[in-house]
Amino acid sequence: MSDIYINLAYIASAALFVFGLKMLSSPATARRGNLLSSIGMLIAIVATLTAQGIVSYQWIAVGALAGGVIGALAARLVAMTSMPEMVALFNGSGGAASLLVGWAALSAATNPTAFTAAVAFLSILIGGVTASGSIVAWAKLAEVVPSRAVVFPGQRVVNGLILAAIVVGGTLFATQPATDAPLFYALLGLALLLGVMAVIPIGGADMPVVISLLNSYSGLAACAAGFAIDNNILIVAGSLVGAAGIILTNIMCKAMNRSLANVLFSGFGAVQAATKVEGEVKPINVEDASIILEAASSVTFVPGYGMAVAQAQHVVRELGDLLEAHGTEVTYAIHPVAGRMPGHMNVLLAEANVSYDKLVEMEDINPRMPNVDVAVVIGANDVVNPAARDDATSPIHGMPIINVDHARTVFVLKRSMASGFAGVDNPLFFGQNTRMLFGDAKASISGVVAQFKD
Ligand code: TAP
Repeated sequence: MSDIYINLAYIASAALFVFGLKMLSSPATARRGNLLSSIGMLIAIVATLTAQGIVSYQWIAVGALAGGVIGALAARLVAMTSMPEMVALFNGSGGAASLLVGWAALSAATNPTAFTAAVAFLSILIGGVTASGSIVAWAKLAEVVPSRAVVFPGQRVVNGLILAAIVVGGTLFATQPATDAPLFYALLGLALLLGVMAVIPIGGADMPVVISLLNSYSGLAACAAGFAIDNNILIVAGSLVGAAGIILTNIMCKAMNRSLANVLFSGFGAVQAATKVEGEVKPINVEDASIILEAASSVTFVPGYGMAVAQAQHVVRELGDLLEAHGTEVTYAIHPVAGRMPGHMNVLLAEANVSYDKLVEMEDINPRMPNVDVAVVIGANDVVNPAARDDATSPIHGMPIINVDHARTVFVLKRSMASGFAGVDNPLFFGQNTRMLFGDAKASISGVVAQFKD
């Protein structure tokens, strides 16, 4: 296909990406948005395959088959709770791909201009940081390495020196871009080292933010690779990923009331919270919980990471339906960082066919909370921790929470008194109006459902 048709196909793909992304902003249109963007990607791939200069269709077929099989298996086999790990690995693969594209572009160019050398170098650098950083993020989330923040004296100076060496070496390299020179390998090693050093001081609880940031980096690396090989759709797609990733990172930071600098450099989670919460815990059993729920005229479910672990979303919906049939007003309150990835709770509840209009965001549910008869906290902890609101010494102080403690009665469904991902004690468990329903969330809710059906 000639260049003009390829570029027209690219414009169509870019438009589909943008409309697809726009549709992802609402649960009602997200599925179609995903499909639209996928069609855009298919058009881009087909158009690219018709371009002059394809070196080997056989190798492309082998790569597409291997990638397709890995992608399909991962999508089917990876548990919902391991999705952040999978996203981390996908980001890392994107970064590694850009690194290789930049490297190949430089190796193939006989006499590269300073611009080509600079953009190819950027795709190698950013791709390298993304690849190694994503592997560390994956290892922390999968607990292959300890998930706590690793900090040591002089860490920032060491990181600053690595960065300075990359800037100086990169400038030298752009004037003499030889990929077989020792300078190139030294820079490659430094880029990979920078990725590791940038992620180790960040604790496991902040990993989703880091993954979103690395996602943005992978987009920037792809964009640079697009300039290096002069491919317009790679530039557009890379820019979209770069921008979307940074917007999402910003949304997450806001939801935790933290700045990005605080997430990246504070070593949050390296030191445990000093404040120990003590008091009387009031457990409740399934029978008594059912009686209280039966008498309630408004119930709000507040899901968290534990609902994903227990895979309790279907029984939660079943209980919600039973309560509604009984005349109770039922809502589902969603905290923006509940779970381990953006939209985690929305995805689980959508999977269980909870209708979107029953989902209420944190800002909208909080003013209504004093009128809620029972707030049922299902495996959530940090996102309902009143210490974030009331205790200035708490490490999560300032993070907006769902004020379940303002409801008339609170049920907390979890297996033990253990803390959440941030490792911070929760005074909610000792509240006057709190009843702890200990056990696996799915088993507890199933028990309540069984009582209702009796
Ligand atoms: P967490 O605070 O991590 O608490 C989850 C609770 O679920 C645990 O305390 C655990 O207690 C309980 N649990 C685990 N398995 C269970 C099971 N089978 N049945 C019942 N309960 C179970 O979760 P959260 O409230 O959703 O907060 C999310 C955390 O991740 C926050 O710290 C947030 O800042 C962080 N984070 C999230 C994101 C995104 S995008 N979601 C981004 C950045 C950071 P037991 O072990 O006692 O059962």
